[in-house]
Amino acid sequence: MRVDLLAGTAYGAAVMPRRQPTILVFDSGLGGLTVLAETTRARPDARIVYAADDAGFPYGRLSEAELVDRVLQVMERLIARCHPDLVVIACNTASTLVLPALRARFTIPFVGTIPAIKPAAETTRSGLISVLATPGTVARDYTRGLIEAYAARCEVTLVGSTGLAGLAEAALKGETVDDAAILAELEPCFVERDSVRTDVITLSCTHYPLLLERMRRVAPWSVSWIDPAPAIARRISQLLGPAAPPPFSAAGDAPAIFTSGACISGPLRIALAGYGLSQVLIEPFPLMN
Ligand code: DGL
Repeated sequence: MRVDLLAGTAYGAAVMPRRQPTILVFDSGLGGLTVLAETTRARPDARIVYAADDAGFPYGRLSEAELVDRVLQVMERLIARCHPDLVVIACNTASTLVLPALRARFTIPFVGTIPAIKPAAETTRSGLISVLATPGTVARDYTRGLIEAYAARCEVTLVGSTGLAGLAEAALKGETVDDAAILAELEPCFVERDSVRTDVITLSCTHYPLLLERMRRVAPWSVSWIDPAPAIARRISQLLGPAAPPPFSAAGDAPAIFTSGACISGPLRIALAGYGLSQVLIEPFPLMN
């Protein structure tokens, strides 16, 4: 199995146009905002469009065949609508499965988001690391391959959380989320054996950094949390090449596209505006199953 760390290396020599590039940041829901924030910081010259397949959320519950099919169909529509120069699959659940099919279907570069197992293995002192992700991501052959390739000498606990992405969405939408609910999802990551404890947790779903401050607060003990978003933003910047010359379109008026839009509340609109996404657009695409 091919294992590349940032899942975008097939396009190492991509040559981008010297005009303002358009980046499409895609996720099943709101988790990709954590990647969008870092990308905006790294590339203020780019026009960034955010797209959430909220009609398909959560991707963690879809079978592998359903997920490949779904992402290809939605991507077809989004690429036709946005004409991006580069697409970021800001979703581990999709990236660990769908990238080969996307690259076979479309010619533009795709940058993926995959569990940060190599950095976790390099960071741990105790040798106990935990991968916190969706049930889909922890079940992937790709994830197993990363562990074999980079963390064979560590004890890796895979934690497939069914609820944490939904809790992160709820919090961003302004709903009340109890600390106890967050802790219940996190607890299996904290392993203690013969006075040795887990000391690194990799946040392998882009939703989770949205709750990072609260996770730190409720954690049974202090650990290093790895959020891969800054590394992904660096990779995107590398692929785009030198910044485009000004003028750029005004920051703050970027669109957020939703395939359902059913749960867009006032607080969510305010949160999206905080990420520079002041236009909310709906591209209806119901999930048929
Ligand atoms: N944000 C997505 C990820 O990084 C997952 C959420 C979902 O289950 O749709 O895996």
